[in-house]
Amino acid sequence: MKTQVVIIGAGPSGLLLSQLLYQAGVDFIILERQTRDHVEGRIRAGVLEQITVDLLERAGVADRMRREGLPHHGFQLLSEDGPVRIDVTKLTGKSVMVYGQTEVTQDLIAACLKRGGELVFEAGDVALHDLETETPSVSFIKDGTRHQIHCDFVAGCDGYHGVSRKSIPATALQTFERVYPFGWLGLLADVPPCDEELIYCSHERGFALASMRSHTRSRYYVQVPLSEKLEDWSDDRFWQELARRLGPDVAGKLAVGPSLEKSIAPLRSFVTAPMQWGRLFLAGDAAHIVPPTGAKGLNLAASDVAYLADALIDWHRRGSPDALAAYSARALPRVWRAERFSWWFTNLMHRFPDTDTFGRQMQRAELDYIRHSDAAQKGIAENYVGLPLDWS
Ligand code: APR
Ligand code: PHB
Repeated sequence: MKTQVVIIGAGPSGLLLSQLLYQAGVDFIILERQTRDHVEGRIRAGVLEQITVDLLERAGVADRMRREGLPHHGFQLLSEDGPVRIDVTKLTGKSVMVYGQTEVTQDLIAACLKRGGELVFEAGDVALHDLETETPSVSFIKDGTRHQIHCDFVAGCDGYHGVSRKSIPATALQTFERVYPFGWLGLLADVPPCDEELIYCSHERGFALASMRSHTRSRYYVQVPLSEKLEDWSDDRFWQELARRLGPDVAGKLAVGPSLEKSIAPLRSFVTAPMQWGRLFLAGDAAHIVPPTGAKGLNLAASDVAYLADALIDWHRRGSPDALAAYSARALPRVWRAERFSWWFTNLMHRFPDTDTFGRQMQRAELDYIRHSDAAQKGIAENYVGLPLDWS
Protein backbone atom coordinates (compact mmCIF):
# COMPACT_ATOMS: atom_id res chain seq x y z
CA MET A 1 0.00 0.00 0.00
CA LYS A 2 1.10 3.57 -0.66
CA THR A 3 -0.18 6.99 0.35
CA GLN A 4 1.19 10.47 0.99
CA VAL A 5 0.44 10.82 4.71
CA VAL A 6 -0.27 8.10 7.28
CA ILE A 7 -2.23 9.61 10.16
CA ILE A 8 -1.98 7.62 13.38
CA GLY A 9 -5.02 8.08 15.65
CA ALA A 10 -8.64 9.02 14.93
CA GLY A 11 -9.12 11.46 17.80
CA PRO A 12 -9.97 15.08 17.03
CA SER A 13 -6.39 15.82 15.85
CA GLY A 14 -6.13 13.00 13.32
CA LEU A 15 -9.68 13.38 12.05
CA LEU A 16 -9.50 17.15 11.61
CA LEU A 17 -6.13 16.88 9.86
CA SER A 18 -7.56 14.27 7.50
CA GLN A 19 -10.48 16.51 6.60
CA LEU A 20 -8.21 19.46 5.78
CA LEU A 21 -5.88 17.26 3.74
CA TYR A 22 -8.82 15.75 1.88
CA GLN A 23 -10.03 19.19 0.86
CA ALA A 24 -6.59 20.04 -0.49
CA GLY A 25 -6.29 16.79 -2.43
CA VAL A 26 -3.56 15.24 -0.28
CA ASP A 27 -3.82 11.42 0.03
CA PHE A 28 -3.83 9.82 3.46
CA ILE A 29 -4.83 6.78 5.49
CA ILE A 30 -5.87 6.99 9.16
CA LEU A 31 -5.01 4.09 11.47
CA GLU A 32 -6.99 3.89 14.73
CA ARG A 33 -6.36 1.29 17.42
CA GLN A 34 -9.87 1.36 18.92
CA THR A 35 -13.34 0.58 17.56
CA ARG A 36 -15.56 3.32 16.15
CA ASP A 37 -17.95 2.93 19.12
CA HIS A 38 -15.14 3.43 21.58
CA VAL A 39 -13.82 6.54 19.83
CA GLU A 40 -17.31 8.05 19.49
CA GLY A 41 -18.27 7.32 23.09
CA ARG A 42 -15.42 9.06 24.91
CA ILE A 43 -16.57 11.99 27.04
CA ARG A 44 -14.13 14.89 27.02
CA ALA A 45 -14.29 18.67 27.45
CA GLY A 46 -16.65 20.89 25.53
CA VAL A 47 -15.55 24.51 25.01
CA LEU A 48 -14.38 25.53 21.53
CA GLU A 49 -12.34 28.65 20.86
CA GLN A 50 -13.14 30.78 17.82
CA ILE A 51 -10.11 29.37 15.95
CA THR A 52 -11.47 25.84 16.47
CA VAL A 53 -14.93 26.86 15.31
CA ASP A 54 -13.36 28.51 12.24
CA LEU A 55 -11.34 25.40 11.49
CA LEU A 56 -14.39 23.15 11.73
CA GLU A 57 -16.13 25.54 9.31
CA ARG A 58 -13.16 25.39 6.93
CA ALA A 59 -13.21 21.58 7.20
CA GLY A 60 -16.91 21.58 6.25
CA VAL A 61 -18.04 19.86 9.46
CA ALA A 62 -19.71 22.73 11.30
CA ASP A 63 -23.40 22.24 10.45
CA ARG A 64 -24.47 20.41 13.61
CA MET A 65 -22.25 22.58 15.79
CA ARG A 66 -23.93 25.69 14.34
CA ARG A 67 -27.38 24.16 15.07
CA GLU A 68 -26.76 22.62 18.48
CA GLY A 69 -23.74 24.45 19.94
CA LEU A 70 -24.26 27.14 22.56
CA PRO A 71 -22.34 30.40 22.05
CA HIS A 72 -21.15 31.64 25.47
CA HIS A 73 -20.18 35.22 26.19
CA GLY A 74 -18.83 34.85 29.69
CA PHE A 75 -18.23 32.55 32.64
CA GLN A 76 -18.04 32.76 36.40
CA LEU A 77 -15.26 32.35 38.93
CA LEU A 78 -16.85 31.46 42.27
CA SER A 79 -15.41 31.29 45.79
CA GLU A 80 -16.61 31.85 49.35
CA ASP A 81 -16.12 35.56 48.65
CA GLY A 82 -18.79 35.45 45.93
CA PRO A 83 -18.90 35.23 42.13
CA VAL A 84 -16.80 37.16 39.62
CA ARG A 85 -18.21 37.18 36.09
CA ILE A 86 -15.66 37.32 33.28
CA ASP A 87 -17.50 39.02 30.43
CA VAL A 88 -15.37 37.59 27.63
CA THR A 89 -17.30 39.24 24.82
CA LYS A 90 -17.14 42.72 26.36
CA LEU A 91 -13.45 42.26 27.13
CA THR A 92 -12.31 40.67 23.85
CA GLY A 93 -15.11 41.06 21.28
CA LYS A 94 -15.14 37.27 20.94
CA SER A 95 -17.08 34.33 22.33
CA VAL A 96 -16.60 30.58 22.80
CA MET A 97 -18.83 27.73 21.61
CA VAL A 98 -20.01 25.12 24.10
CA TYR A 99 -20.14 21.90 22.07
CA GLY A 100 -18.79 18.56 23.25
CA GLN A 101 -15.60 17.03 21.94
CA THR A 102 -17.63 13.82 21.68
CA GLU A 103 -19.91 15.56 19.17
CA VAL A 104 -16.96 17.07 17.27
CA THR A 105 -15.47 13.57 16.95
CA GLN A 106 -18.77 12.08 15.77
CA ASP A 107 -19.19 14.84 13.16
CA LEU A 108 -15.64 14.33 11.88
CA ILE A 109 -16.03 10.54 11.65
CA ALA A 110 -19.34 10.93 9.81
CA ALA A 111 -17.69 13.29 7.29
CA CYS A 112 -14.75 10.94 6.88
CA LEU A 113 -16.88 7.85 6.27
CA LYS A 114 -19.17 9.76 3.92
CA ARG A 115 -16.30 10.54 1.58
CA GLY A 116 -15.25 6.84 1.59
CA GLY A 117 -12.97 4.71 3.64
CA GLU A 118 -9.45 5.88 4.34
CA LEU A 119 -10.11 5.20 8.03
CA VAL A 120 -9.06 1.85 9.51
CA PHE A 121 -10.47 1.09 12.97
CA GLU A 122 -9.00 -1.67 15.15
CA ALA A 123 -5.56 -1.36 13.57
CA GLY A 124 -3.35 -3.40 15.92
CA ASP A 125 0.36 -3.23 16.67
CA VAL A 126 0.97 -0.04 14.68
CA ALA A 127 4.71 0.46 14.14
CA LEU A 128 6.61 3.31 12.46
CA HIS A 129 9.65 2.57 10.28
CA ASP A 130 12.50 4.50 8.61
CA LEU A 131 11.28 7.87 9.87
CA GLU A 132 14.69 9.43 9.37
CA THR A 133 14.69 8.53 5.66
CA GLU A 134 12.69 9.94 2.72
CA THR A 135 10.78 6.67 2.45
CA PRO A 136 9.12 6.02 5.82
CA SER A 137 6.45 3.37 6.30
CA VAL A 138 3.91 2.26 8.88
CA SER A 139 2.91 -1.34 9.56
CA PHE A 140 -0.17 -2.62 11.41
CA ILE A 141 -2.29 -5.72 11.88
CA LYS A 142 -5.90 -5.82 10.75
CA ASP A 143 -8.04 -8.97 11.00
CA GLY A 144 -4.97 -11.08 11.69
CA THR A 145 -2.99 -9.86 8.65
CA ARG A 146 0.01 -7.52 8.81
CA HIS A 147 -0.04 -4.63 6.32
CA GLN A 148 2.59 -2.06 5.43
CA ILE A 149 1.91 1.43 4.09
CA HIS A 150 4.71 3.34 2.37
CA CYS A 151 4.30 7.09 2.65
CA ASP A 152 5.99 10.47 2.44
CA PHE A 153 5.11 11.62 5.98
CA VAL A 154 3.63 10.30 9.21
CA ALA A 155 1.32 12.43 11.38
CA GLY A 156 1.43 11.23 14.99
CA CYS A 157 -2.04 12.12 16.27
CA ASP A 158 -2.32 9.17 18.67
CA GLY A 159 -2.59 10.96 21.99
CA TYR A 160 -0.44 10.81 25.10
CA HIS A 161 -0.25 6.99 25.24
CA GLY A 162 0.29 6.51 21.51
CA VAL A 163 3.16 4.86 19.68
CA SER A 164 4.34 7.89 17.64
CA ARG A 165 6.17 9.89 20.28
CA LYS A 166 7.73 6.68 21.60
CA SER A 167 9.17 6.01 18.12
CA ILE A 168 11.45 9.03 18.43
CA PRO A 169 14.83 8.34 20.09
CA ALA A 170 14.76 9.76 23.63
CA THR A 171 17.96 11.68 22.92
CA ALA A 172 16.20 13.63 20.14
CA LEU A 173 13.48 15.01 22.44
CA GLN A 174 13.15 17.15 25.51
CA THR A 175 10.11 16.66 27.71
CA PHE A 176 8.66 18.96 30.36
CA GLU A 177 6.14 17.66 32.84
CA ARG A 178 4.09 18.46 35.92
CA VAL A 179 1.79 15.86 37.44
CA TYR A 180 -0.87 17.27 39.78
CA PRO A 181 -1.67 15.45 43.02
CA PHE A 182 -5.42 15.19 42.29
CA GLY A 183 -7.93 14.30 39.60
CA TRP A 184 -11.34 15.44 38.35
CA LEU A 185 -14.33 13.25 39.02
CA GLY A 186 -16.79 14.03 36.22
CA LEU A 187 -20.50 13.26 35.96
CA LEU A 188 -22.75 13.64 32.93
CA ALA A 189 -26.53 13.77 33.47
CA ASP A 190 -29.67 14.65 31.55
CA VAL A 191 -30.66 17.54 33.79
CA PRO A 192 -30.82 21.24 32.90
CA PRO A 193 -27.61 23.14 33.81
CA CYS A 194 -27.67 25.09 37.11
CA ASP A 195 -26.68 28.29 35.29
CA GLU A 196 -26.62 29.68 31.75
CA GLU A 197 -22.82 29.98 31.93
CA LEU A 198 -19.96 27.80 33.18
CA ILE A 199 -19.01 28.20 36.84
CA TYR A 200 -15.43 27.49 37.93
CA CYS A 201 -15.54 27.17 41.71
CA SER A 202 -12.63 27.41 44.17
CA HIS A 203 -13.61 25.97 47.56
CA GLU A 204 -11.76 24.93 50.71
CA ARG A 205 -12.84 21.34 50.05
CA GLY A 206 -11.51 21.53 46.49
CA PHE A 207 -12.35 22.77 43.01
CA ALA A 208 -15.71 22.18 41.29
CA LEU A 209 -16.92 22.97 37.78
CA ALA A 210 -20.47 23.36 36.51
CA SER A 211 -20.53 22.87 32.74
CA MET A 212 -23.03 21.68 30.16
CA ARG A 213 -23.54 20.05 26.80
CA SER A 214 -26.99 21.51 26.02
CA HIS A 215 -29.98 23.11 27.75
CA THR A 216 -30.95 19.64 28.99
CA ARG A 217 -27.60 17.93 29.58
CA SER A 218 -25.12 18.95 32.30
CA ARG A 219 -21.50 18.08 32.93
CA TYR A 220 -20.14 18.57 36.44
CA TYR A 221 -16.76 17.92 38.05
CA VAL A 222 -15.33 17.85 41.56
CA GLN A 223 -11.63 17.71 42.41
CA VAL A 224 -10.74 14.45 44.22
CA PRO A 225 -7.49 12.95 45.56
CA LEU A 226 -5.86 10.52 43.11
CA SER A 227 -6.35 7.72 45.65
CA GLU A 228 -10.14 8.04 45.27
CA LYS A 229 -12.00 5.03 43.80
CA LEU A 230 -14.87 5.57 41.38
CA GLU A 231 -16.99 2.86 43.04
CA ASP A 232 -16.95 4.87 46.29
CA TRP A 233 -18.75 7.72 44.53
CA SER A 234 -22.48 7.03 44.30
CA ASP A 235 -24.44 9.64 42.35
CA ASP A 236 -25.88 10.88 45.66
CA ARG A 237 -22.45 11.42 47.16
CA PHE A 238 -21.34 13.29 44.02
CA TRP A 239 -24.36 15.62 44.03
CA GLN A 240 -23.95 16.35 47.75
CA GLU A 241 -20.27 17.19 47.42
CA LEU A 242 -20.92 19.34 44.34
CA ALA A 243 -23.72 21.25 46.10
CA ARG A 244 -21.51 21.86 49.13
CA ARG A 245 -18.72 23.34 47.00
CA LEU A 246 -21.00 25.43 44.78
CA GLY A 247 -22.65 26.97 47.87
CA PRO A 248 -26.32 27.58 48.69
CA ASP A 249 -27.06 30.17 45.97
CA VAL A 250 -26.01 27.94 43.07
CA ALA A 251 -26.92 24.65 44.78
CA GLY A 252 -30.49 26.00 45.08
CA LYS A 253 -30.69 25.86 41.26
CA LEU A 254 -28.98 22.47 40.93
CA ALA A 255 -31.15 19.80 39.26
CA VAL A 256 -29.94 16.29 40.08
CA GLY A 257 -30.52 13.01 38.26
CA PRO A 258 -28.95 9.66 37.44
CA SER A 259 -25.49 9.75 35.87
CA LEU A 260 -25.06 8.80 32.20
CA GLU A 261 -21.29 8.62 32.72
CA LYS A 262 -18.92 9.04 35.64
CA SER A 263 -15.13 8.89 35.51
CA ILE A 264 -11.97 10.15 37.20
CA ALA A 265 -9.33 11.88 35.06
CA PRO A 266 -5.82 12.69 36.31
CA LEU A 267 -4.37 16.16 35.65
CA ARG A 268 -1.06 16.67 33.90
CA SER A 269 0.94 19.38 32.15
CA PHE A 270 3.31 17.93 29.55
CA VAL A 271 5.22 19.23 26.54
CA THR A 272 7.57 17.45 24.18
CA ALA A 273 9.97 19.47 22.04
CA PRO A 274 10.52 19.49 19.18
CA MET A 275 7.19 18.20 17.88
CA GLN A 276 8.83 16.52 14.90
CA TRP A 277 11.58 14.07 14.04
CA GLY A 278 12.62 13.11 10.53
CA ARG A 279 9.39 12.55 8.61
CA LEU A 280 7.20 12.25 11.74
CA PHE A 281 5.13 15.20 12.97
CA LEU A 282 3.30 15.10 16.33
CA ALA A 283 0.01 16.94 16.89
CA GLY A 284 -2.41 17.26 19.82
CA ASP A 285 -2.10 15.10 22.93
CA ALA A 286 0.75 13.10 21.33
CA ALA A 287 2.89 16.22 21.78
CA HIS A 288 1.41 17.94 24.82
CA ILE A 289 -1.13 17.66 27.62
CA VAL A 290 -2.79 20.45 29.57
CA PRO A 291 -4.89 20.10 32.70
CA PRO A 292 -8.57 20.60 31.76
CA THR A 293 -8.95 23.86 33.71
CA GLY A 294 -9.77 26.29 30.89
CA ALA A 295 -10.53 23.55 28.32
CA LYS A 296 -7.48 24.16 26.16
CA GLY A 297 -6.72 20.52 25.13
CA LEU A 298 -8.88 20.23 22.05
CA ASN A 299 -8.22 23.83 21.02
CA LEU A 300 -4.48 23.30 21.15
CA ALA A 301 -4.89 20.15 19.08
CA ALA A 302 -6.82 22.26 16.56
CA SER A 303 -4.07 24.88 16.25
CA ASP A 304 -1.39 22.19 15.79
CA VAL A 305 -3.51 20.69 13.04
CA ALA A 306 -3.97 24.07 11.36
CA TYR A 307 -0.18 24.55 11.22
CA LEU A 308 0.51 20.96 10.15
CA ALA A 309 -2.17 20.95 7.46
CA ASP A 310 -0.77 24.23 6.04
CA ALA A 311 2.72 22.75 5.95
CA LEU A 312 1.70 19.45 4.33
CA ILE A 313 -0.45 21.26 1.77
CA ASP A 314 2.43 23.59 0.98
CA TRP A 315 4.66 20.60 0.36
CA HIS A 316 1.97 18.95 -1.77
CA ARG A 317 1.33 22.05 -3.91
CA ARG A 318 4.76 23.57 -4.22
CA GLY A 319 7.05 20.70 -3.28
CA SER A 320 8.51 22.96 -0.62
CA PRO A 321 9.70 21.37 2.66
CA ASP A 322 10.23 24.75 4.34
CA ALA A 323 6.89 24.97 6.17
CA LEU A 324 7.24 21.37 7.37
CA ALA A 325 10.74 22.09 8.66
CA ALA A 326 9.32 25.06 10.58
CA TYR A 327 6.24 23.21 11.97
CA SER A 328 7.43 22.67 15.54
CA ALA A 329 8.92 26.15 15.84
CA ARG A 330 5.60 27.62 14.70
CA ALA A 331 3.42 25.45 16.96
CA LEU A 332 5.35 25.49 20.23
CA PRO A 333 4.93 29.16 21.27
CA ARG A 334 1.13 28.77 21.27
CA VAL A 335 1.46 25.45 23.10
CA TRP A 336 3.50 27.10 25.85
CA ARG A 337 1.04 29.99 26.17
CA ALA A 338 -1.83 27.56 26.66
CA GLU A 339 0.29 25.48 29.06
CA ARG A 340 0.92 28.60 31.12
CA PHE A 341 -2.74 29.60 31.25
CA SER A 342 -3.96 26.08 32.14
CA TRP A 343 -1.27 25.72 34.83
CA TRP A 344 -2.02 29.14 36.28
CA PHE A 345 -5.79 28.58 36.29
CA THR A 346 -5.30 25.14 37.90
CA ASN A 347 -3.12 26.63 40.63
CA LEU A 348 -5.57 29.44 41.31
CA MET A 349 -8.66 27.25 41.65
CA HIS A 350 -7.54 23.93 43.22
CA ARG A 351 -6.73 22.82 46.72
CA PHE A 352 -3.23 21.30 46.81
CA PRO A 353 -2.12 18.95 49.61
CA ASP A 354 0.31 21.67 50.73
CA THR A 355 -2.18 24.56 50.45
CA ASP A 356 -1.84 26.02 53.97
CA THR A 357 -3.81 28.96 55.37
CA PHE A 358 -1.35 31.40 53.76
CA GLY A 359 -1.65 29.66 50.39
CA ARG A 360 -5.44 29.81 50.59
CA GLN A 361 -5.33 33.53 51.42
CA MET A 362 -3.14 34.07 48.35
CA GLN A 363 -5.75 32.34 46.16
CA ARG A 364 -8.51 34.48 47.72
CA ALA A 365 -6.44 37.64 47.30
CA GLU A 366 -5.87 36.83 43.63
CA LEU A 367 -9.59 36.25 43.07
CA ASP A 368 -10.27 39.54 44.89
CA TYR A 369 -7.79 41.30 42.60
CA ILE A 370 -9.48 39.78 39.55
CA ARG A 371 -12.86 40.93 40.87
CA HIS A 372 -11.68 44.54 41.01
CA SER A 373 -9.32 44.78 38.05
CA ASP A 374 -10.54 45.10 34.46
CA ALA A 375 -6.94 44.49 33.34
CA ALA A 376 -6.78 41.16 35.18
CA GLN A 377 -10.17 40.13 33.79
CA LYS A 378 -9.06 41.02 30.28
CA GLY A 379 -5.97 38.85 30.62
CA ILE A 380 -8.11 35.88 31.64
CA ALA A 381 -10.70 36.53 28.95
CA GLU A 382 -8.20 36.76 26.08
CA ASN A 383 -6.64 33.47 27.10
CA TYR A 384 -10.01 31.81 27.56
CA VAL A 385 -11.29 32.72 24.09
CA GLY A 386 -7.93 31.64 22.68
CA LEU A 387 -4.76 33.46 21.68
CA PRO A 388 -4.13 34.19 17.99
CA LEU A 389 -2.73 31.45 15.74
CA ASP A 390 0.34 33.51 14.93
CA TRP A 391 1.54 36.11 17.41
CA SER A 392 4.79 37.38 16.03
N1 APR B 1 -2.27 3.08 17.11
C1 APR B 1 -3.37 3.67 16.56
N2 APR B 1 -4.14 4.55 17.22
C2 APR B 1 -3.78 4.87 18.47
C3 APR B 1 -2.63 4.32 19.10
C4 APR B 1 -1.87 3.39 18.36
N3 APR B 1 -0.78 2.80 18.89
N4 APR B 1 -2.53 4.83 20.35
C5 APR B 1 -3.55 5.67 20.50
N5 APR B 1 -4.32 5.70 19.38
C6 APR B 1 -5.55 6.48 19.15
C7 APR B 1 -6.46 6.54 20.37
O1 APR B 1 -7.28 5.39 20.45
C8 APR B 1 -7.26 7.79 20.08
O2 APR B 1 -8.42 7.53 19.34
O3 APR B 1 -5.22 7.83 18.92
C9 APR B 1 -6.32 8.66 19.26
C10 APR B 1 -5.82 9.88 20.02
O4 APR B 1 -6.91 10.71 20.31
P1 APR B 1 -6.92 11.71 21.56
O5 APR B 1 -6.31 11.06 22.74
O6 APR B 1 -8.30 12.26 21.67
O7 APR B 1 -5.88 12.87 21.14
P2 APR B 1 -6.05 14.07 20.10
O8 APR B 1 -6.73 13.63 18.86
O9 APR B 1 -4.72 14.71 20.02
O10 APR B 1 -7.09 15.04 20.79
C11 APR B 1 -6.75 15.98 21.72
O11 APR B 1 -8.38 15.07 23.12
O12 APR B 1 -7.55 13.98 24.97
C12 APR B 1 -8.23 15.08 24.53
O13 APR B 1 -7.79 16.80 26.05
C13 APR B 1 -7.47 16.26 24.83
O14 APR B 1 -9.06 17.63 24.03
C14 APR B 1 -7.82 17.11 23.72
C15 APR B 1 -7.94 16.25 22.55
C1 PHB C 1 -16.53 20.28 30.11
O1 PHB C 1 -17.64 20.75 29.81
O2 PHB C 1 -16.33 19.07 30.14
C2 PHB C 1 -15.45 21.24 30.48
C3 PHB C 1 -15.67 22.60 30.35
C4 PHB C 1 -14.68 23.49 30.71
C5 PHB C 1 -13.48 23.02 31.18
C6 PHB C 1 -13.24 21.65 31.27
C7 PHB C 1 -14.24 20.76 30.93
O3 PHB C 1 -12.52 23.90 31.54
